[in-house]
Amino acid sequence: MRTLITNGLVVTADGSYPADVLVDGETIALVGADLAAAGVTADATLDATGKYVVPGGIDVHTHMELPVGGIFAKDTFESGSKAAAHGGTTTIIDFAAQTKGRPLRDGLDTWHAKAAGNSVLDYGFHMMMADVNDATLAEMDQLIAEGVPDFKLFTAYPGVQYSPDDHIFRAMQRTRRNGGLIMMHAENGPVIDVIAADLVAAGMTDPIGHGMARSPILEGEATNRVIRLAETAGVPVYIVHLSSRDALEAVTAARNRGAMAFAETCPQYLFLSVDDLGNGFEGAKYVCSPPLRPKDHQADLWRGLRTDDLQLVATDHCPFDFHGQKELGRGDFRKIPNGLPSVEDRVDLLHDGGVVGGRISRERWVEIMATAPAKMFGMYPKKGAIAVGSDADILVYDPNRRRTISAATHHMNVDYSIFEGFEIQGGSDVVMSRGTVLVRDGAWVGPAGHGRFLRRDVTDHARIS
Ligand code: URP
Ligand code: ZN
Ligand code: ZN
Repeated sequence: MRTLITNGLVVTADGSYPADVLVDGETIALVGADLAAAGVTADATLDATGKYVVPGGIDVHTHMELPVGGIFAKDTFESGSKAAAHGGTTTIIDFAAQTKGRPLRDGLDTWHAKAAGNSVLDYGFHMMMADVNDATLAEMDQLIAEGVPDFKLFTAYPGVQYSPDDHIFRAMQRTRRNGGLIMMHAENGPVIDVIAADLVAAGMTDPIGHGMARSPILEGEATNRVIRLAETAGVPVYIVHLSSRDALEAVTAARNRGAMAFAETCPQYLFLSVDDLGNGFEGAKYVCSPPLRPKDHQADLWRGLRTDDLQLVATDHCPFDFHGQKELGRGDFRKIPNGLPSVEDRVDLLHDGGVVGGRISRERWVEIMATAPAKMFGMYPKKGAIAVGSDADILVYDPNRRRTISAATHHMNVDYSIFEGFEIQGGSDVVMSRGTVLVRDGAWVGPAGHGRFLRRDVTDHARIS
């Protein structure tokens, strides 16, 4: 099947130019001016007049069906990937989770079983490590050989996912040898737990207590600490879901002294604030870790995206229903399952708030939502590019399309939206994955189970600026 996308404006991280794009089978076969006039034929034509032609979005931080305290994040790979596709994302990397005391292998096998045949999008995995010991360190090498080269460790959640500094350092030493990448959830969990216990003892049990306990200072401290550990080990480090000015200052300072420190932020930190946590128990809808921050941190995060101290935006999609799931924390904010739904909204929110809002260029938008994620996680130029030979993961994107975000119309399997009522400019007319149209004018037209596992190689992060 050959599809010719005509008359669009190809927008890449490097620049924009009018061109036609020929898709042959699963890949891009030609990019050039007036291909039809030059005699190029196809089975189908997509007229992209007035539209952008951009690489499909890549969300490198999702949690489909993540088990948390006996319940599961609501989106399956099927529902979550479909929702992502509706929002212009064509690739996801999800976090396979090790159960404490069990081999990494079990966690990875579980995640393969969840995703295979169910994900409509191509997908990869990072591995979340709850234990660092001789056995799991050895398993890291094996996982890399199987196409899972990144490992998330936590300075948060004592007793569950938490690793002390010496364990983190040992894992970093291992990646110095095997080429893997350590990803860090950087908050000072032990101190947060003391403050949280004090708050609850003093009768502060509402969701706002979650924000009060998790000070940005403790994110900044942990971010600086793990970067210093990585510098000592001589390896790159990637900070996940960076939320605050304090943490960004640590990353910026590290990059200014030449350290290989990388970081993502998330839409919730760019568009929401701690004010959303403060509305009685309704605030439970906005409980995630790190928590939402005072509004004035947002400008710093946008600055970081402009100056490349933040390399990309991922969602940390981890949806729990308000009714029956978030409600488990009534009377004690520590029992509210952490995580927010947003996999469907990232691409368009970044276009609206970023490009339409005048904060970033349309080329930088493509970079932070697709190209940089592909480069950071070993998928470029197969993914994240409009180039000959790349997978035909393409959005025909209307920069003037409008929608109002609402739980009533979204495709995520969750009973509320954190962006309810947001009016968004920009949306995908066509979402194509490996040459197959998945979504056309907001309607699902793709086959079930279209996604494939992406076996990824290690990345030389010294080559990423
Ligand atoms: O609150 C969050 N972020 N939940 C998902 C798990 C994690 O730490 O990324
Ligand atoms: Zn985390
Ligand atoms: Zn996460």
